[in-house]
Amino acid sequence: MKLTALISASLLAASVTAQQVNRTATNGWGSTPSQRHYINQTQALCVINAAVAASSVPNDIAVLDPSSQLVAFLRMDNAYLGSIDISMKKAKTVTSFNGQFPSNGLLTRSQPGGDLFGIEETNGGLVVFGGGQPIYDYDGYFIGAVGVSGGTVQQDIATSVAAAESVGTTLTIA
Ligand SMILES: *[C@@H]1O[C@H](CO)[C@@H](O)[C@H](O)[C@H]1NC(C)=O
Ligand SMILES: *[C@@H]1O[C@H](CO)[C@@H](O)[C@H](O)[C@H]1NC(C)=O
Repeated sequence: MKLTALISASLLAASVTAQQVNRTATNGWGSTPSQRHYINQTQALCVINAAVAASSVPNDIAVLDPSSQLVAFLRMDNAYLGSIDISMKKAKTVTSFNGQFPSNGLLTRSQPGGDLFGIEETNGGLVVFGGGQPIYDYDGYFIGAVGVSGGTVQQDIATSVAAAESVGTTLTIA
């Protein structure tokens, strides 16, 4: 389903696709803890396992809740040490903007001359290339994000999409 109309107010006016996203149902101001929708430990382990299953190289895999707090992490055997931080910052890039786009949603506009040039220097460091994906549950709630680092960007995107989709759905740049 095309959701272009729903994201007209988002930071990025990219065209995205997903099955069940309801952006007004994500964790908003004024919600109480019982109304919030956070990824739980069972879902987080599912995301990690799906990422491992989809990996063709050793990856670092980070799962954050919508508040950017760590829920689960795995450094696969022989995964790059430098990718620990990258995987976590990919996921943080997604949660920092309420899961409105994957990490590479900022890629074009953060280039020299772009209106968001330098955005990766904010928030203690963001990652604007692919491998960070929002996780929406089957009811369309934004529940967290997964960041994968270890392969090429295209491999990381494929792995993180498969991981996110193991417990619901995600968004990709059209
Ligand atoms: C989205 O969620 C909000 C808040 O729960 C609800 O009021 C609204 O009807 C939902 N919209 C759709 C299209 O499901
Ligand atoms: C985690 O969430 C899933 C999906 O909503 C649910 O089926 C499961 O019971 C939950 N697990 C725990 C431990 O809360």
